[in-house]
Amino acid sequence: MSENNAILKIGEEELSIPIITGSENEHALDISKLRGSTGYVTLDVGFKNTGSTKSAITYLDGEQGILRHRGYSIEDLASKASYLEVTYLLINGKLPNQAELDTFDHDIRMHTLVNTDMENIFHSFPTGSHPMGQLMCLVSSLSAFYPGSLNTHPTPERQLKTITRLLAKMPTICAMIYKKKWGHPLVYPNNSLDYVSNFLNMTFGQVTMNYETDPVVADAMNKLLILHADHEQNCSASTVRLVGSSHANLYSSIAAGIAALWGPLHGGANQQVIEMLEKIKADGGNVQKFIDKAKDKNDTFRLMGFGHRVYKNFDPRARIIKKSCDEVLAKLGIHDPILDIAKELEEAALNDPYFAERKLYPNVDFYSGIIYRALGFPTEMFTVLFALGRLPGWMAQWKEMRTEGQPIGRPRQIYTGEPARDFIPMKMRS
Ligand code: CMC
Repeated sequence: MSENNAILKIGEEELSIPIITGSENEHALDISKLRGSTGYVTLDVGFKNTGSTKSAITYLDGEQGILRHRGYSIEDLASKASYLEVTYLLINGKLPNQAELDTFDHDIRMHTLVNTDMENIFHSFPTGSHPMGQLMCLVSSLSAFYPGSLNTHPTPERQLKTITRLLAKMPTICAMIYKKKWGHPLVYPNNSLDYVSNFLNMTFGQVTMNYETDPVVADAMNKLLILHADHEQNCSASTVRLVGSSHANLYSSIAAGIAALWGPLHGGANQQVIEMLEKIKADGGNVQKFIDKAKDKNDTFRLMGFGHRVYKNFDPRARIIKKSCDEVLAKLGIHDPILDIAKELEEAALNDPYFAERKLYPNVDFYSGIIYRALGFPTEMFTVLFALGRLPGWMAQWKEMRTEGQPIGRPRQIYTGEPARDFIPMKMRS
């Protein structure tokens, strides 16, 4: 192995593998030519050790608990930036100056309305259908309302327009889903309000009376959206990139990301955490019983909101959310017994060798649901809020992939089925 190459030996044959080094001194072996020269592929089920792309958007060091977007720490962004600034940063690669932010903000405000025909789609959903299924469907339907987005090689201006449209309409769609859940009349966007306040107004406002945004609620929402804004090549971002790599339009690619996020091992965990805490409470609050269940390999129960594929130290987002959770509940004057159970569960898990040995710590979803609950959202909306926050990250990943002209994503496999055999006609089959 030299500084720039590693040597792979297969039998007597030696192959020089280029070493790629990232800007934070991360190393990778570039095996893209491996099959062509040796006939071998690599096998890594679940991509536990495989980089699918180079990317300049987000840096994550799971061992150190570091998360940075475009070089800025998540701690700084969560405490000092607005969600739209972070959105601009992710999509454009730099922080906006005031004029750039004003233009960005203005353009978004000009696109907040959705076509009223979209309301007809709601009539087709059975009562009680899950908000994430609705969100996926509604976002995908935007490709029908904006057929220009089907252009597979959009100009940068057209691409930006589609990105702006989706950013603008996503809060409107999420709020519509919330209103339809309760059978309440829709509150249309009020473009005099900022991004977060407009969303809160469309969600919690009533057509019959004015709604005053509580700054505590708006601040908490702003922070939560920032903390979810991007997380490099996670399951949903990878899905967005993979779907987009076939030159599928942006709306469909994001709808696919929403589908991936819905799963309980990914974004769907935030709903599951609250349901788990409720279950522990209803069961009498015996935290140890559930810790034991999570450790039992014959039990499918997992401690939701615990563990992470990449973080083997504390999830920095969880640290910020935990602190914010205490502050928001105190400011809103809410005492939620679920928070006490969450803290007890966290302490018990952190002191248990099973969790320590496997480096399982609370992740972003462990405390976020408690804040969403305090803000007034029903549990089924939690993953929708995650999707709302993650949207700029998905779009930045999609844009980077398309701008760089990356090839269609198409993994290899190792076939383990039957070898070739003759077809047996029906009458001869036993
Ligand atoms: N409760 C109990 N045991 C666990 C848990 C958990 N939450 N998470 C992992 N383990 C155990 C697992 O059984 C395995 O044990 P062993 O080595 O004895 O077989 C070991 O820890 C490694 O787990 P893994 O499933 O191989 O790890 P992974 O990287 O494939 O999975 C994970 C990561 C997040 C899917 C998993 O930790 C999990 O299921 N957590 C609960 C769901 C959750 O909170 N998801 C949200 C993730 S953060 C938000 C996001 O960005 O998606």
